[in-house]
Amino acid sequence: MIEEILNKENLNKSDIINLLNSDGDDLQLLFDYSTKIKNKYIGNKVHLRGIIEYSNICSKNCYYCGIRKDNENVNRYILSEEEVIEASKFAYHNGYGSIVIQTGELQSENNTKKIEKLLKEIKSLSDNKLGITLSCGEQTEEVYKRWFDAGAHRYLLRIESSDKELYEKLHPNNKLHSWQTRVNCLYALKNIGYQVGTGVMIGLPFQTNEHLADDILFMKNLDIDMCGMGPYIEHEDTPLFQYKNNLLSLNERLELSLKMLSVLRIVMKNINIAATTALQAISTKGREDAIRIAANVVMPNITPVLYRENYKLYENKPGINEDCEDSIKSITRLVQNAECEISFSEWGDSKRFKNREK
Ligand code: 5AD
Ligand code: SF4
Repeated sequence: MIEEILNKENLNKSDIINLLNSDGDDLQLLFDYSTKIKNKYIGNKVHLRGIIEYSNICSKNCYYCGIRKDNENVNRYILSEEEVIEASKFAYHNGYGSIVIQTGELQSENNTKKIEKLLKEIKSLSDNKLGITLSCGEQTEEVYKRWFDAGAHRYLLRIESSDKELYEKLHPNNKLHSWQTRVNCLYALKNIGYQVGTGVMIGLPFQTNEHLADDILFMKNLDIDMCGMGPYIEHEDTPLFQYKNNLLSLNERLELSLKMLSVLRIVMKNINIAATTALQAISTKGREDAIRIAANVVMPNITPVLYRENYKLYENKPGINEDCEDSIKSITRLVQNAECEISFSEWGDSKRFKNREK
């Protein structure tokens, strides 16, 4: 039956649910098929994005996240301008084609200006050659535009769940945490001309395969350029921790995440898909498997090691003590194990975005 589904031009919701439920030989067929699609439309190149965790100060209180505002067990930091510049130079000189600046969500003119200045400086130190992705949460269209004009050209904003009701179970009920605002932000980003990435967490409490199938269709409908998604991993200082006994096992969450990645690759053949760190938190082979079957982007952490301990969105986050050199070595190894090749010093833009531009 699974062959029949895989041969269809367009997958509907029930097809996707069937694929997500597959196991045994069917599961292997699914993974083999998405590997084939990846090789055909993307090739074996993997792009690097050095991720800089700029600040763990956040105004929000998402129920799943270890750096939520009300968690008092976190030492809050913000990197200095020099630290961000140093990390960017490291990325540039080591052939990382792009960086990602990620931070907790802050909506203030002070924060907007600082990021704007950093963008301009990084563009100038790299002679415009380093691509910059931002992951700085929900902002006004005006702020997004200022950052775009300052040099950012890709933006990641995960929808977390495309189902409004489920989203509301995972966030406080107030204006700061509105599902509709988040959707509007994604459209605003597209409107400005960013390459837009979104994604969801997989294996959340209350989440079903039906929700996940809707997530895939949401991404297709939004016509995204990039996706970052991975398993939900509980954090003891968060409200969702109380549901820890009602979750899939970590290995089941990892397997379900890999299924989601392969289905997404089949549905959106030419987008960029990241092998996220959360996959690696469950198994040392997590990212490697993701690359083999669907992903073509890896995001090595280039945050100064001193701060990493304080940017723990979930437990067992890997790479906390790894310095940047080690991380290049380990990434090279994992990409080779997946029978792929790192593409150095290239932006590695989403093919879907480029094709749409033509
Ligand atoms: N487990 C997995 N991913 C998480 N994120 C936040 N908290 C967790 C968690 N406990 C993800 C969210 C967010 C991204 C930066 O990290 O999807 O968008
Ligand atoms: Fe803040 Fe993002 Fe964590 Fe939500 S997921 S609390 S917005 S850092």
